[in-house]
Amino acid sequence: MKILVTGGLGFIGSHTVVELQNEGFEVVIIDDCSNSSENVLEGIQSITGKAPIFEKLDLKEKAKVQDFFKRHEDVEGVIHFAASKAVGESVEKPLLYYENNIATLVYLLQELAAKNRASFIFSSSCTVYGQADTMPITENAPVKPAESPYGNTKQMGEEIIADTCKVTPGLNAIALRYFNPMGAHPSTEIGELPIGVPQNLVPFITQTGVGMREQLSVFGDDYPTEDGTCVRDYIYVVDLAKAHVIALKRLLEGKNTMNYDVFNVGTGKGSTVLEVIQSFERVSGKKLNYKIVDRRPGDITTAYADTTKANEQLGWKAEYTLDQAMGSAWNWEQKIRKPS
Ligand code: UD1
Repeated sequence: MKILVTGGLGFIGSHTVVELQNEGFEVVIIDDCSNSSENVLEGIQSITGKAPIFEKLDLKEKAKVQDFFKRHEDVEGVIHFAASKAVGESVEKPLLYYENNIATLVYLLQELAAKNRASFIFSSSCTVYGQADTMPITENAPVKPAESPYGNTKQMGEEIIADTCKVTPGLNAIALRYFNPMGAHPSTEIGELPIGVPQNLVPFITQTGVGMREQLSVFGDDYPTEDGTCVRDYIYVVDLAKAHVIALKRLLEGKNTMNYDVFNVGTGKGSTVLEVIQSFERVSGKKLNYKIVDRRPGDITTAYADTTKANEQLGWKAEYTLDQAMGSAWNWEQKIRKPS
C-alpha cells in the first residue's frame, strides 16, 4: 500500500518513513529540502534496506501537487509533516508561515477531497494548549489563543482538516499533538539536523557537549516548578514515529470512530530543564557547561501529556526513557561531528 510522506526527509518524517517501511508500506516522500538534505535517503535505506521513492517538490506549487496525485493515484494515505517550525521566525515572517503551512495544507486536502478516499495524519503540537490550566493535559483541554503565527498554523490546520472531514465522508484524519520530540534512530543513520544555532533544548545540549557551543543558557530558574526550571514532556522520536504508523493503520483499517480525531503523543512524564541536563550528564559521563539566564519570552511553565486516549484507543505507549532517548541523541551528535 502506497503512503505519501510530505517532509519525509525531516527529523520526525524520516523516522516515520523507516517505521512505515518496516511495516511493509511503500513510501513516497515529497520534500522541498528547504530544511533537510537528500542524504537522509541513504540513511533511511541503510536502516531498512529499501529506498523510498523521492520527489523534490514544493507543495506551494499547486499545479505540481495536482500533477503528483495524477501520477500517484494509488496513494492511500498521507502523513503530512512538511511545514516551517521556527517559532521566532514565524513572528518575524507571518505570511511566510501562513503560506508554507496553510496554503500547502489546503492544496493537499483539495486533492484528497477530490479522491474522496484517503487517510490523513497531521503533525500538530501541544502548543495548541498554551499554558493549560491543569496537568497532565488531556485532549479535552481548551485550545488557547496562539502565541505565535507558527502555533496558529497548527490550530488553524486542525480546524481546516476538521471542517473538510465534515463534508468529505471518504476522508478520515487524525491530528497528533506532539509534546517535545527528541533523540535519534538507534542505528545513528538518521537524527535531528538543525540548521544554524539550535533553538530547541536537546540539540543545544548535545552540541555543547561535543564542543560546538560554549555554553547552554537555561532560560529561567524562577518558575513555580520543583527546581524552578520549565517542565516539558520529552518524547523519543522513534516512539513518536510509531504513533504515526499506528494512527494511520487505524484509519486504513476503518477502526476509527470519528472521521476526524486528535491524540496527544507524549510520555505522560514531565522533566525540568535541569533534569534533562542531568540525563545528558549521566549518559555522556560529561559535565555540561551551562548558566542560568533570564526567562525566554513566550515560554510556558509546564506541559506534559495525559496519554490515556492514545494508550487506550490507539494501543500506543511510549517505550523509551529520557536517558535512552538522550543516549541516542548523544550518539548521533558524536557521529555527525566526527571528522570523516
Ligand atoms: C518549542 C516551541 C513549540 C514548538 C517546539 C518545536 C516555543 C515557545 N515553543 O517548544 O511551539 O512546537 O519548540 O520543537 O518556542 N531551553 C533552555 N535553553 C535553550 C533551549 C531551551 O533552557 O537553549 C528550555 C526552554 O525554556 C524550555 C525547554 O528548554 O523550557 C524546551 O525548549 P524547546 O526545546 O525550545 O521546546 P519548547 O519551547 O517546549
